[in-house]
Amino acid sequence: MEQKYIDEARQGEAYYAPQADVAGQINKKKFYIESYGCQMNFSDSEIVASILQSEGYAATPRFEEAQLVLLNTCSIREKAEQTVRNRLQSFRKIKEQQPSMLIGVLGCMAERLKAKFLEEEKLVDIVVGPDAYRSLPSLVAEAEGGQKAVNVLLSREETYADISPVRLQSNGISAFVSIMRGCNNMCTFCVVPFTRGRERSRDAGSIVSECQALFDAGYREVTLLGQNVDSYYYSPIDGAPITFAKLLSSVADLSPLLRVRFSTSHPKDITDEVLHTMAAYPNICNYIHLPVQSGNTRILQHMNRTYTREWYLHKVSRIREIIPGCGLSTDIITGFCSETEAEHQDTLSLMEAVKFDMAYMFAYSERPGTLAARRFTDDVPEDVKKRRLNEIIDLQNQHSRQSYAQDVGTVCQVLIEGDSKRSATDWCGRNSQNKMVVFPKTHADEAPGTYVDVKILHATSATLIGERNG
Ligand code: SAH
Ligand code: SF4
Ligand code: F3S
Repeated sequence: MEQKYIDEARQGEAYYAPQADVAGQINKKKFYIESYGCQMNFSDSEIVASILQSEGYAATPRFEEAQLVLLNTCSIREKAEQTVRNRLQSFRKIKEQQPSMLIGVLGCMAERLKAKFLEEEKLVDIVVGPDAYRSLPSLVAEAEGGQKAVNVLLSREETYADISPVRLQSNGISAFVSIMRGCNNMCTFCVVPFTRGRERSRDAGSIVSECQALFDAGYREVTLLGQNVDSYYYSPIDGAPITFAKLLSSVADLSPLLRVRFSTSHPKDITDEVLHTMAAYPNICNYIHLPVQSGNTRILQHMNRTYTREWYLHKVSRIREIIPGCGLSTDIITGFCSETEAEHQDTLSLMEAVKFDMAYMFAYSERPGTLAARRFTDDVPEDVKKRRLNEIIDLQNQHSRQSYAQDVGTVCQVLIEGDSKRSATDWCGRNSQNKMVVFPKTHADEAPGTYVDVKILHATSATLIGERNG
């Protein structure tokens, strides 16, 4: 059950359609968009929606009534791509009935497969890579004229800085803001540098203005997104260069009522300056997602993660020294090329040493074109990968349960996001450590977007249950 949830969050099984823009929809062409993969992809779909809306398109949550159906895809693991292929098949029938409906594939799978996609999946009309979304309207026009249309050019500059994203299916309280694109790290297992291109940082001024606009519109939480946020670096023409720590403080300075989060940090790059900035601002949340991938130094070297087990453990102690009580989560890959049983044990022992509050855990999936696919053999048998993954999940479940149980009896500040999924008589929201908190509605001052203190009475391995404290 928990692994299913994890898969949905990260493995490309999650999708959503935008809320209907009911007003002014009559006579407009309609588009439908579904997103898979990481938060960056979800955030890109909001840019795509903005580009299409300025071309006169309206969003619809029903693909049957759309003239343009878009899938924003993920390539991170084989299974993520399979999910998209299956989904495309489910559009086949409707496309047969409505041949004028255009189907477009966006995102990482589009970038990886390029024009090959059109040969493999005959029902696809448009293929657009992550840096080419501005050309979507002209590609749609080409496709309307009966031609298949492809643009998968990667860019060294594109950050979509000037485009105001259209928030899709947002709770109106928390939003994602992209601060950079691409990745230069070349972890040997990873397809992202190939699908997203070179790393580039977005103009800091445009990030701060977007966060201000969100705050003015009632949002109370922003998550700054990048594959490696700690290497954010922007040099304005007329001023000093802006590091990630500086960007964090500029966003946090907008208002003490605006919570700031970020994802993802790389253990080799996260600095004490960032940790001290987090400690200095009560509105920068005490939570870090710090993917470790493996607890064994030889495997980490093989993965080209450029840190050792000891370096990682040292970073964790610095985090806990500078930000006591900081929430910590991670990503783990098991069964990477040549991983031995003893090396797998090192991952378990690192988990014991750190005791993560939460983790996303995966069996290694070879991706064509990556350094690992070219240089190493995917030689850990599937059943061994599966068994090791289960051991890792079991241990993490114990740690998550312990971590949540330890909060019972404490009081934490919660930003109310909305009704709890289970009951409209309860609120749900998150504490600073990113743990979901559910509590009964009792006071008139409670509403989405307000901060309340909650006393924790019970815990599961993924939720804290409490009541208003004062
Ligand atoms: N930029 C982020 C992660 C992006 S991908 C970072 O560096 O931390 C999210 C996670 O997917 C990775 O952290 C990794 O754990 C997992 N992942 C990436 N490639 C994978 C592969 N080939 N097989 C299995 N898991 C993979
Ligand atoms: Fe992939 Fe590594 Fe870049 Fe993360 S840092 S996106 S794992 S290459
Ligand atoms: Fe997937 Fe691309 Fe994100 S491969 S995880 S959608 S960067």
